[in-house]
Amino acid sequence: MKNIAIFASGAGSNARKIIDHFRHSGLAKVTLILSNKAEAGIFRIAEEEQIPAVLIDKEAFFRGDRYVKLLQDAKTDLVVLAGFLWKVPANLIAAFPGHIINIHPALLPKFGGKGMYGHFVHEAVLAAGETESGITIHYVNEKYDDGGVILQERCAISPDDTPETLARKVQVLEHQWFPLIVERLLTSES
Ligand code: GAR
Repeated sequence: MKNIAIFASGAGSNARKIIDHFRHSGLAKVTLILSNKAEAGIFRIAEEEQIPAVLIDKEAFFRGDRYVKLLQDAKTDLVVLAGFLWKVPANLIAAFPGHIINIHPALLPKFGGKGMYGHFVHEAVLAAGETESGITIHYVNEKYDDGGVILQERCAISPDDTPETLARKVQVLEHQWFPLIVERLLTSES
């Protein structure tokens, strides 16, 4: 059985989809949840699902090995960032080479980087007059939204789209694809 750790600091809808996807799986399960926001929706989900959840201490995250050790002690096979907005420190990346992935709500390399999350992304995509957007699932490196692309899926933008309607289209793709890609990565290495 493979162990998935999820970092999530938003509403937690992608984390929820991944937890649901693996609930009856013989392949993997979500065994640890981490968040840097005490009010994040993920803590309620973790409690319902009885998954250990940890509020990240910023100082300790960026200095020292507390979270590397926590993930190693939990025998983590894959680290999944699902709405986690901090850069991942070098020691954590080095401890899980090629085993940390992120989802971004646009077609990288466009519309990524610091401050590009949630409605800011969709507003920027519409302001640029793009005719399509989508999702990018990628490996994580030490820069924002920058590692190798694993999957991109697209959706069309219509002239009457707003940031809210575009966000819904993109979220459908996220929920459809993220659990499948997590499964694919875990399967390909087992
Ligand atoms: C998702 O749309 C994800 O793509 C985005 O945060 C949202 C989290 O939603 N991540 C980024 O923007 C990373 N740069 P959720 O909390 O409902 O899963």
